[in-house]
Amino acid sequence: MSFPIAAEPFQLDANETLSPDQLRVLQTRRMKASLAHAFAGNPHFRQTCRDARVAPDDFADLADLRKFPFSGKADLRAAYPFGYFAVPMRDIARIHASSGTTGNPTVVGYTRDDIRTWAGLVARSIHAAGGRPGMKVHVAYGYGLFTGGLGAHYGAEELGCTVIPMSGGQTEKQIQLIQDFKPEIIMVTPSYMLSLLDELEARGIDPRSTSLRIGIFGAEPWTEAMRAEIEARLAIRAVDIYGLSEVIGPGVAQEYGATQDGPTIWEDHFYPEIVDPETGEPLPDGEEGELVFTSLSKQAMPIIRYRTRDLTRLLPGSQGPMRRMAKITGRSDDMLIIRGVNVFPSQIEEQLLKCAGLAPHYLIEISRPGRMDEMTVQVERRTDCGEGEGAAHGRELAQYIKVHIGISVTVEVVASGSLPRSMGKAARIRDLRGS
Ligand code: DLL
Repeated sequence: MSFPIAAEPFQLDANETLSPDQLRVLQTRRMKASLAHAFAGNPHFRQTCRDARVAPDDFADLADLRKFPFSGKADLRAAYPFGYFAVPMRDIARIHASSGTTGNPTVVGYTRDDIRTWAGLVARSIHAAGGRPGMKVHVAYGYGLFTGGLGAHYGAEELGCTVIPMSGGQTEKQIQLIQDFKPEIIMVTPSYMLSLLDELEARGIDPRSTSLRIGIFGAEPWTEAMRAEIEARLAIRAVDIYGLSEVIGPGVAQEYGATQDGPTIWEDHFYPEIVDPETGEPLPDGEEGELVFTSLSKQAMPIIRYRTRDLTRLLPGSQGPMRRMAKITGRSDDMLIIRGVNVFPSQIEEQLLKCAGLAPHYLIEISRPGRMDEMTVQVERRTDCGEGEGAAHGRELAQYIKVHIGISVTVEVVASGSLPRSMGKAARIRDLRGS
């Protein structure tokens, strides 16, 4: 497969090649400024600092960060809609918000400079993935309050690419534009990529014959098994992009296409920590826990020690001093406890992709018929897999889950195309408890 990494890769900005010392100096300087800015501009942060008896002057070096209080979604909700902004409203150039299935949505704001910083980081991300000026980028992340579409869009433009702002949905139109406009890059959730793949195949088009060469997938957890599935069906390099609205949006971390060894965190703008999700104690690099971010350059809405609820580990940098994160195992909110065993949907995905006749379209139902929670995995057969063969693969899956995860589940193998499809982030869990 030809992969468009130039022989002499050009660097987009000097920060990617800082020495470890230079990076630390930059982070320390920026963090001091960010703490002072948040304290001066955000009354909620100021109050939590006062409660914790700490002030920006207590910060001298990075080790001092742990003295400062955490923040989380609840703080943003309490300040709904604009109370978490640290600049006057007239300086806010754009608003985004998370969908917020319960309660108020989480609102985030950007100044013009923030938008420029963000575009630069997404441009750096697309470049790291292997994208180059002049390539066409099909953006199938949703546009609107969700940060995916507009975040990808501004970054691709900043890099000098041609943007196709398709947004999510209208699957047939997506296929037509991929065929006609011939983009080299697609930016989309991995689960919606699967729907696009199915649609291509349903129309008798070999997905490997399309112009797509790089897929920049994120906004939801996806496994190495899913990467292998997508790369086998499409002639692309599939790379991981990570981000969250509260921190900035997509482009907080990006996997390099040349190494595919987990997203590199753009540490010159977002300082990561891993903490024990129960106690909040910082954990050393390499240990799994909850990812926490402090923004180092944001103006409109600096965030200090923001708890993401995403579970991962910090790994040493492979392209420079900036550290990588391991693929996200899951969010602490998505963790299921089945008869005492902790399970994430991604673990089920990993097992089902081992079964040749099963497609990676699945839904996990949790019910409580008696005193214990029970899990049913609904999974589709592949189009070329008959009913009897599908049932056998279903038994195989139940066995894999028992052996590798340690829980007994019911597997229901259903016809191809019968489970709901996502146009963006896939909903993997249906909770029937209490219904
Ligand atoms: O999903 C931003 C984004 C858009 C990232 C497009 C990548 C691409 P939110 O809607 O605020 O923002 O959701 C953030 O999505 O805390 C993770 O739980 C999850 N997430 C995002 N990227 C990944 C990833 C966008 N690469 C939440 N792997 C985060 C696993 C991811 N989970």
